[in-house]
Amino acid sequence: MAKVGEDVKLAICGGPKCVTADPTDRWAMIPAGEVKAAIGALLEEGKITIADGSGVVGEFEEGFKALVGTRYALAMNSGTATLHSAYFAAGVSPGTEVLAPSYTWHASITPILHCSATPVFCDIEPDTLTIDPRDMERKITPKTRAVCVVHVWGNVADMDRIMALARKHKLAVIEDASHAHGAKYKGRPVGGIGDIGCFSLQGVKAVSGGEAGVATTNDPVLFDRMVLLGHFGRGPKRQGAGTFDSIGDMSLGAKYRPHPFAIALANCQLKRLTELNRLRARNYAVLNELLRDVPGIETFEPRPGCERGGYLEFKFGVAREIADQAPLEKIEAALQAEGAPVQKDRYSSFNYTYGLLHTAPLFTTFDRASLGGCFYDPKSYTGKPVTPVKLPVTEDVCTRLLGTYAFADVSPEYLKQIGNAFRKVMTHLEQV
Ligand SMILES: Cc1ncc(COP(=O)(O)O)c(C=O)c1O
Repeated sequence: MAKVGEDVKLAICGGPKCVTADPTDRWAMIPAGEVKAAIGALLEEGKITIADGSGVVGEFEEGFKALVGTRYALAMNSGTATLHSAYFAAGVSPGTEVLAPSYTWHASITPILHCSATPVFCDIEPDTLTIDPRDMERKITPKTRAVCVVHVWGNVADMDRIMALARKHKLAVIEDASHAHGAKYKGRPVGGIGDIGCFSLQGVKAVSGGEAGVATTNDPVLFDRMVLLGHFGRGPKRQGAGTFDSIGDMSLGAKYRPHPFAIALANCQLKRLTELNRLRARNYAVLNELLRDVPGIETFEPRPGCERGGYLEFKFGVAREIADQAPLEKIEAALQAEGAPVQKDRYSSFNYTYGLLHTAPLFTTFDRASLGGCFYDPKSYTGKPVTPVKLPVTEDVCTRLLGTYAFADVSPEYLKQIGNAFRKVMTHLEQV
């Protein structure tokens, strides 16, 4: 960093870069040796498909139950499959509505269409980016059947208020904890507070099978209904309350069971989750500390009494008055030139052709009835363009978010240099 009195030139204007330390994250996401051994064992045993929840799938489900503290865990082939199963199990069907945030990955919402129901988009809280219970309350109608709560970027939603609201109005609570493996709300693991927890185990998630998912619940009937939808061959003995014993092994045939190789991979990572979360929590706290007094930068702190988990990415906000003066693209470019691995937030309008979900053509102008399938509610859908609902907090916050990797094992010097890059750019915005 330049000393007081020295002229400071941003790297984007040809000055020296702030970030020169080794950016390698020494935390290997995939413990290759262990995974090879686990998959090799499955190959030797000839277990390349397991339909009944035994073997590594059963072992993983036991481990996930222990993590979330639920009676049941049901491994699937994607997080999207868990959400479809959850909505189906909760009775989301034609003529019903589901309250959900717009600020999320589209897969939190599209399975509502798979049940021919209607998503109703709600605003978020500015300090946690999670669904705002006050807006949820305003949007409850006699048709509301369920709510989708996304613990986005590992931030925990306001579960006391959401559960009170849901119980009062008899709504099922589906927790999309795809970013929040191991996060806790007042000591209780997320995914075990609402009626069903849904976890993606895809890609770079904190627990990843490459492509997989797992749903959790305490309710044997909800468990049975999820098995019914997607798990042919799981068998009556494995079912919760025996609700569908009369149909034996049969299912509705959405083939949602996972590949055992994927679950073997996820199982190796599940064992390392506590350590991963410890490292990420520490590094997020370090970065937040470094950025807290940087002019124009807003940090996201954990909700009081809650522990973040999973993370996926670390997020920071640019203050409104700054974002109005200096476009976020320019701040992003200046930070990147300094060597800081920072990007504009990807759920915001910037990165996808559809923009924020509540303004996306799929939910506004596109006539889904023209597809001839079941992806709309025939009782209430007109096929006419819909005026997007206004979500002031979502629309404001999303134009001001920056993200960086959820660092696990990088050097303190590297984090310090990223902090320096923010300070340098934000105190010399006239150069961006
Ligand atoms: C919040 C959220 N929900 C659901 C999903 C869907 O999970 P999958 O990609 O495993 O189907 C994702 C995946 O990124 C996600 O981020």
